[in-house]
Amino acid sequence: MLRLVRANWIQRVSCNIQKMQTDGKLFVGRMFSVQDSLPKLPVPPLEQTVQKYLRTVQPLLSDEEYANTLKIVKDFEKDPGPKLQNLLEKRAQRETNWLSDWWMNTAYLDFRQPVTVNVSPGVVFPKQNYSDKEGQLRFTAKLISGLLSYKTMIDQQTLPVEKMGKQSLCMMQYYKILCGCRIPGRKKDTWVCYPPDEANPPRHVIIAHNNAFFSMDLYGSNNQPLNTEQLHVQLKHVVRQSKEVETPIGLLTTENRNKWAKSYELLLKDKENKVSLSELHRSICVICVDNQLPDSAAGEEESTAARMMLHGGGSQLNSANRWCDKTLQFIVGKNGVCGLNYEHTTAEGPPIISIVDHILDYCKSEDKSAPAPDVKAPRKLKFNITFPELKNNIEEAVENIDSMVKDVDLNVFKFTEYGKNFPKSQKLSPDSYLQMAFQLAYFRLYSKPCATYETASLRQFQLGRTDTIRSCSIESFEFSKGMLDPAVSTQKKAELLRKAVTGHKNYVAEAIKGQGIDRHLLGLKLVALQNNMKVPTLHMDMAYSLSSHHNISTSQVPAKYEACLVFGPTVPDGYGVCYNPQEKQIIFGVSAFNCCPETVSMKFIDSIQQSLRDMKAVLEGSIQSKL
Ligand code: COA
Repeated sequence: MLRLVRANWIQRVSCNIQKMQTDGKLFVGRMFSVQDSLPKLPVPPLEQTVQKYLRTVQPLLSDEEYANTLKIVKDFEKDPGPKLQNLLEKRAQRETNWLSDWWMNTAYLDFRQPVTVNVSPGVVFPKQNYSDKEGQLRFTAKLISGLLSYKTMIDQQTLPVEKMGKQSLCMMQYYKILCGCRIPGRKKDTWVCYPPDEANPPRHVIIAHNNAFFSMDLYGSNNQPLNTEQLHVQLKHVVRQSKEVETPIGLLTTENRNKWAKSYELLLKDKENKVSLSELHRSICVICVDNQLPDSAAGEEESTAARMMLHGGGSQLNSANRWCDKTLQFIVGKNGVCGLNYEHTTAEGPPIISIVDHILDYCKSEDKSAPAPDVKAPRKLKFNITFPELKNNIEEAVENIDSMVKDVDLNVFKFTEYGKNFPKSQKLSPDSYLQMAFQLAYFRLYSKPCATYETASLRQFQLGRTDTIRSCSIESFEFSKGMLDPAVSTQKKAELLRKAVTGHKNYVAEAIKGQGIDRHLLGLKLVALQNNMKVPTLHMDMAYSLSSHHNISTSQVPAKYEACLVFGPTVPDGYGVCYNPQEKQIIFGVSAFNCCPETVSMKFIDSIQQSLRDMKAVLEGSIQSKL
């Protein structure tokens, strides 16, 4: 069903683009001007994938385990590998993107854990200059104006096509950010979208304040956007109408998806609830005006802010002042603390950060636009909690969010000794250099390498999302061992570092060209299941599960401003690391779970800093650097 809805929608977008082309009256919005000429995601050669796979699992296995995996891989190459490869290639010929629907389902809609912390990243903005409620609402109004100006570019398809080097990127993610919502289902969720070119596109945002939700129109009667002053008046109205803290119904959206689905079905039985839910789903986004901010020790403010963005701080703080199914929730907190949280089903971090950069630029300007006519007052959404079961579910949600919040160990830190300028000066890729710092940091703490995930963008392809860069390699292992061995010379250490960085950069270059191995291996498994075949032994081998158990899960999300993206670890004994490498500093958001005593975010942060210092020292002490 979902696939059908989505396929129809994508087809409709394509039709609209074609219509613009054939009509000749409307220009092709430049945002989609190269969409149809983007290449299709390839299926990599089978032999290439298995060879790479073997190289990436080797550092994680003993000799005996590796010999066993080698045999399994060799068998797979004979049967059923070629059969599956053939089926996958046929699918790739039929579909615009052989992976995108599968990925949306497997990575997101089938996932049953709460989206909070486990799926939805937070983004912390640089601290804004306000300290009272009036200033908070003024900033919120400005933020919404900035958002509207960005939305106009999406609606009119005037956003420039993004590029990676010379390569144009797929812009479809932008089209979905300001009109989508995830809907809970008992076994799997669905995703709905109200794109700008439909008959009745979204014209309102939802304002969350004191756990209450208001629908607030952003346009006057002639489709003219409200100006900042008008938005400010509307926000003051919302605040006046929600002085008391309300039932924390939004907490239901932070629950396990099956549980939330049951509550959702109960909510839908009431007519008023149904209307309110529809208003939420159909909105452009949610704007959370938070009232609470915990005290922070000096120097801890950014980490506190990051926690507000990731999970809201618990039932007594802001976690209920959220609707976590909504694709985008801007969060405007007290004392200049602000940022956002986004539901990941439709988009990766870079398009979100592009909106953030635009809004922060916009906030520096003055809005001189004329007021829009016929502005309606914001409407409070009514929720009737009629069933006793719903009351119980909300109470359980309170307990669950509070224990989840207690479990999250999240810190943000700025490494200011150097930024990406230093690896560049050494003719090394900054991203690969940082990935090697993570490898060394982990090895220093645990004396072993670990499977590491880094996001690789596949947006060079139509409807492209991501693949995995396996940052742990034979070279990174050799480098980590060498760096910590006092018997190894500085010269040799620098050579090991350069080799490991180059190896990683080569992997990146191949992954972003659709030659990664993880999505290919996933595709081979899913095509087997789709054709009623057994899951291949390769996918049940311990090497496969070990190399997919990411003790370090990372993403680079660069931003113009000092913004930092944060997310939770993907395994209970892992770290989540997001980084924004700037020219002269690097901002990191590092998370772990308290339930695992071995992983401590500050311990990992200290080790990363140590690695960055040591790596610079060996490069500066080696001959190549002195040349
Ligand atoms: N010598 C000197 N400079 C170099 C260099 C070298 N050997 N290699 C790279 N550089 C420069 C680049 O030209 C670039 O310069 P710029 O700052 O002027 O733009 C800069 O260093 C950064 O390059 P690099 O560090 O290699 O990273 P990248 O920009 O190529 O990004 C990935 C690598 C993997 C992060 C990127 O390809 C990607 O896939 N990003 C998607 C991440 C994503 O989706 N995250 C979202 C998660 S929700």
